[in-house]
Amino acid sequence: NKGNFEHYMQKEIHEQPESLTTTMRGRLLRGGSCKAKTVLLGGLKDHLKTIRRSRRIVFIGCGTSYNAALAARPILEELSGIPVTMEIASDLLDRQGPIYREDTAVFVSQSGETADTLSALEYASENGALCVGITNTVGSAIARNTHCGVHINAGAEIGVASTKAYTSQIVVMAMLALAIGGDTISNQARREAIIDGLFDLPNKVREVLKLDQVMKDLAKQLIAEQSLLVFGRGYNYASALEGALKVKEVALMHSEGILAGEMKHGPLALVDENLPTFVIATRDACFSKQQSVIQQLHARKGRLIVMCSKGDAASVCPAEWESCRVIEVPQLEDCLQPVVNIVPLQLLAYHLTVLRGFNVDQPRNLAKSVTTQ
Ligand code: UD1
Ligand code: F6R
Repeated sequence: NKGNFEHYMQKEIHEQPESLTTTMRGRLLRGGSCKAKTVLLGGLKDHLKTIRRSRRIVFIGCGTSYNAALAARPILEELSGIPVTMEIASDLLDRQGPIYREDTAVFVSQSGETADTLSALEYASENGALCVGITNTVGSAIARNTHCGVHINAGAEIGVASTKAYTSQIVVMAMLALAIGGDTISNQARREAIIDGLFDLPNKVREVLKLDQVMKDLAKQLIAEQSLLVFGRGYNYASALEGALKVKEVALMHSEGILAGEMKHGPLALVDENLPTFVIATRDACFSKQQSVIQQLHARKGRLIVMCSKGDAASVCPAEWESCRVIEVPQLEDCLQPVVNIVPLQLLAYHLTVLRGFNVDQPRNLAKSVTTQ
């Protein structure tokens, strides 16, 4: 049921304040008798000790689910102190990469049925790793075959392009980081800030959804383009990859997410006055590096679209740069910023697709659940 919306993708983008609320329901505890702010993931509580003892955490997934894990990686590393590595499921299988008994392998999948991820799960399980699932579908193959896990509870996702599952996956993995990290005096302030940020997240997403018309206007300007580059780094490297994936899979426009730190090592050669380049430069520890990326792109006459935190428009894009477009988004705790930052890109991909006359919910050649290898 699409309710008042024309397409499932549109509905699922706009229902993210509610789906995120459901994802967190019963899992975040604030105040009360002990006063501490804590996270409770029922599916993991008996396994946290084992996870904390593991030598490595390996995230395994495909497509958008992989990108969600990439967005959560920095906070998991920070709070757990355990090395976190990333594997695209098919690539792990192609390489028969090393997986050990001392590893915790985390399988991220909306459908819970993706063939590559499921085969990687069999492989990791045979190699003796603790296998943890992060799935949206209760009773799915990945939920059944993992040793333990967390349901993201985002509600059924119908549009082929994953939107609300992505943001709920990030939130679950941020909660996973909090759960593994445990309570130490040294990280207490950081933990509390993240938990406060989680409580406030649905409101922030509601606020960023107001950019719908702004993104539709931008889509109109980009309707006939061949390509769109998206630059991000740090917490928002994943946002760049995921934004580009949305644009290519539904709007059928070439788009590439680029780690901004790699710009000078090749991609800069593509930049000219015609190619639109989207730069994510919200406030975090990487902000000044992104400012200098923006300056270098401008120096090469790049056609800039910059996403920045509210109030930063003038510092990322001086008034005399007339062709530069700025999109301001609400700022929040750095590790949660990717949840807000992806929303304008989801809206852009959605509007581009409708304006270009393509099928938003059923892009050609794609299936919601990829059950063949
Ligand atoms: C569970 C109930 C929820 C109830 C809550 C009350 C289910 C599905 N969930 O939620 O309805 O409101 O207790 O406390 O009955 N699991 C995997 N792999 C996965 C995902 C989950 O093995 O990929 C396992 C978990 O380890 C757990 C079970 O499935 O044993 C349920 O997981 P989850 O729904 O996340 O647990 P709760 O949030 O505690
Ligand atoms: C992109 C998309 C795909 C899936 C991928 C994994 O919007 O939907 O890239 O993310 O096929 O699917 P799941 O998460 O079901 O394992």
